[in-house]
Amino acid sequence: MTQKNKTLGEFIIENQASFKYTTGELSRLINSIRLAAKVVNHEVNKAGLVDIIGAAGDVNIQGEDQQKLDVYANDKFIQTLTNRNIVCGIASEEEDDFITINSQDSNNQNKYVVLIDPLDGSSNIDVNVSVGTIFSIYRRVTPVGTPVKMADFLQKGNQQVAAGYVVYGTSTMLVYTTGAGVNGFTLNPAIGTFYLSHPNMQFPEDGRIYSVNEGNYIHFPQGIKDYIKYCQKEETGPYTARYIGSLVSDFHRNMIKGGIYLYPKSSKNEKGKLRLLYECNPMAFLAEQANGKASDGFQRILDIQPTELHERVPFICGSKNMVEKAEEFMRNASS
Ligand code: AHG
Ligand code: MN
Ligand code: MN
Repeated sequence: MTQKNKTLGEFIIENQASFKYTTGELSRLINSIRLAAKVVNHEVNKAGLVDIIGAAGDVNIQGEDQQKLDVYANDKFIQTLTNRNIVCGIASEEEDDFITINSQDSNNQNKYVVLIDPLDGSSNIDVNVSVGTIFSIYRRVTPVGTPVKMADFLQKGNQQVAAGYVVYGTSTMLVYTTGAGVNGFTLNPAIGTFYLSHPNMQFPEDGRIYSVNEGNYIHFPQGIKDYIKYCQKEETGPYTARYIGSLVSDFHRNMIKGGIYLYPKSSKNEKGKLRLLYECNPMAFLAEQANGKASDGFQRILDIQPTELHERVPFICGSKNMVEKAEEFMRNASS
């Protein structure tokens, strides 16, 4: 039974035993993500002060170059995970190739690889709107003690051992799963501690919010157009449209209130926009763990075999009944 008012640190220790491969390694890894999240949170919070402390590209008072926040977040997550020698490999949306850690050191017995979208929704930074970080964790499939290979990263989403996100919003929250439900922790910025504020998060089975970039409507497949029209019909209410343009924030709201997020393919983006490994798989794992659903319109996201690191995929995710309805429209339009 999860309990409120627990800190994330206490929660990780107490739940370590319930994780099937208990060695403490995964707990240490999540602890490292917690630390990096706090560092990035501190920087994200200062973003509005750029006119005072200097914009990206400037040189700050210590003579250091100011970095763009997505580069900063990328560096911080990679540094934290590398310095603590906690993983054997990292892949990031911001890096062309995966990073091998301690490839020369056969003493590196670490079993996990991490995939991250260090700053999701980064175009929202300049306008003081919520952004996030998304992470996804797998056990390597190649032998421990050898350099990681592409196969360690190109695993189906259904092999994830943990996934989560940080949302830098009105409050900063870390939400994650290790395959036993989804729990959300809110940062108390005064003392820098995350507290369990949202135990056992669940998507309502049904919802009334749809989130899609409707500006692309004319480029969408017929099934998506039909579903959007269905959302707008008198008989459905109509539903409410809410689109932040940060997947993390749109997902977070929909999980709490009930809703559906859609990033379909279009005649401009043949495979959609979102990345299977850094965005869709972790969000799909969280959605399913929270009683929701995630699909590419025809099949379960978590069953897709990735073929490249930066692969994109159409993404429909949220309350189960809504996702199933959208899939029904996709099937009908393509038959
Ligand atoms: P990122 O900032 O990591 O590149 O991701 C942005 C993604 C996602 O968070 C968001 O929902 C979507 O792109 C918004 O895309 P549009 O501006 O095309 O709607
Ligand atoms: Mn993103
Ligand atoms: Mn990003």
